[in-house]
Amino acid sequence: MSLANGRTYRAIPGPSETPDAVQRAMHRSSVNIYEGEIVDLTHSLVPDLRRVARTTHNVAMYICNGHGAWEAALDNVLNPGDHVLVPATGRFAHGWAEMAVGLGIVPEIIEYGLQSPFDVAEVEQRLRDDKAHRIKAVMGVHVDTATSIRSDIAGLRRALDAAGHPALLMADCVASLGCDRFEMDEWGVDVTVTGSQKGLMVPPGLGIVFFSPKAAAHRPERVSRYWDWGPRADPDMYYQFFGGTAATHHIYGMRAALDIMMAEGIEAIWYRHATLARAIWAAVETWGQEGRLRLNVVDPAFRSHAVTALAIGAPDGQRLRDWCERNTGVTLGIGLGMAPPDSAERHGYFRIGHMGHVNAHMVLGLLGSVERPERIEHPASRGGRSGGGVGHFCQRRASRLIQRLSATPVSSTAARPKLARSAIKIQPRLTPNITTQAVV
Ligand SMILES: Cc1ncc(COP(=O)(O)O)c(C=O)c1O
Repeated sequence: MSLANGRTYRAIPGPSETPDAVQRAMHRSSVNIYEGEIVDLTHSLVPDLRRVARTTHNVAMYICNGHGAWEAALDNVLNPGDHVLVPATGRFAHGWAEMAVGLGIVPEIIEYGLQSPFDVAEVEQRLRDDKAHRIKAVMGVHVDTATSIRSDIAGLRRALDAAGHPALLMADCVASLGCDRFEMDEWGVDVTVTGSQKGLMVPPGLGIVFFSPKAAAHRPERVSRYWDWGPRADPDMYYQFFGGTAATHHIYGMRAALDIMMAEGIEAIWYRHATLARAIWAAVETWGQEGRLRLNVVDPAFRSHAVTALAIGAPDGQRLRDWCERNTGVTLGIGLGMAPPDSAERHGYFRIGHMGHVNAHMVLGLLGSVERPERIEHPASRGGRSGGGVGHFCQRRASRLIQRLSATPVSSTAARPKLARSAIKIQPRLTPNITTQAVV
């Protein structure tokens, strides 16, 4: 007997929950790829993807995952032997650098560990020191999904400009696009890489690369026919969108996902993610007052709004995940990269994915699940408490926070509660009817 039967919540940091409308759109037999609806649908994705990334630049789509999009981006702007600078925080910057090595590119890594964002001032100094401009690109991961650190991509542009350095700015937004505020054009990003399976709410399988005219002009001596972004971004014939057979079902799924996103508005999406993330942090901080549970990232300004990495001590991370999945239908993410994969210590970490198709009742249910397991040593259940005390209090705190924030109309900035550590004014650009503040 289990209380988990019913609608589950895969609170892993990607693939994220797939909305019913996306599932329905993909549930079909084969599609004519030569003419008809699929052609129009594919064209229609481009302007909406631009809206999500806040860019007027080029969009290239690939049938691939994030690794493929990483490689596509690198292959279109760099030659073997070129040097790139990689300020690395967490796990995924290393992954991207490894892909670069596979293409004969030479990454120079500045390491920032598992709990801090990269240091923009240090990057600037390194760029100033590169008088010969050997560095051809700076590769930054916006949100590192393993550690939940959000780094300052706009700061990398300021560093490049302050140093008068011509290198390209390349951003990995696999975990942040459609969740955290990201402004490709305003932040001066030349290449943005993402995948379909997180903030975009579509199953894994579509890789997307946005690129500026400056990046297009960086074309190396040779580009792989398959990864070449030119024909994909500006196809003469339909098959060139995908360099072959189109990603038929993903195109339908992406259309449905973008319809949902356009209806909500990108600023409102950022605001929802920011609010739900703060509710999770409020709960965890309250639990943490009495026990070992803690957020991996200390400074809220550098926490992702899409994923939260936590430590509770081994083996309770594993036990908590097992308990929640078996008993409440909530699947928490494993800890990633925080301890050696074969160590017992790795069971002391877990992650909560709160990206994409996630709302307040899901997060409150998740928090209620996490605070219940009484046999796990956990601040919410210490001394045999059964949901009273700190645990109950913290869920109430999260729920009050959500109620307060959602009671304020999105368009009203004046009455917004003072929860933001710093408020960012979001300039309405492509969806001018919504103005709001992002809570960071
Ligand atoms: C930030 C980030 N970059 C890149 C990737 C690689 O994407 P994929 O696993 O789809 O190849 C991931 C995957 O989780 C990621 O979180």
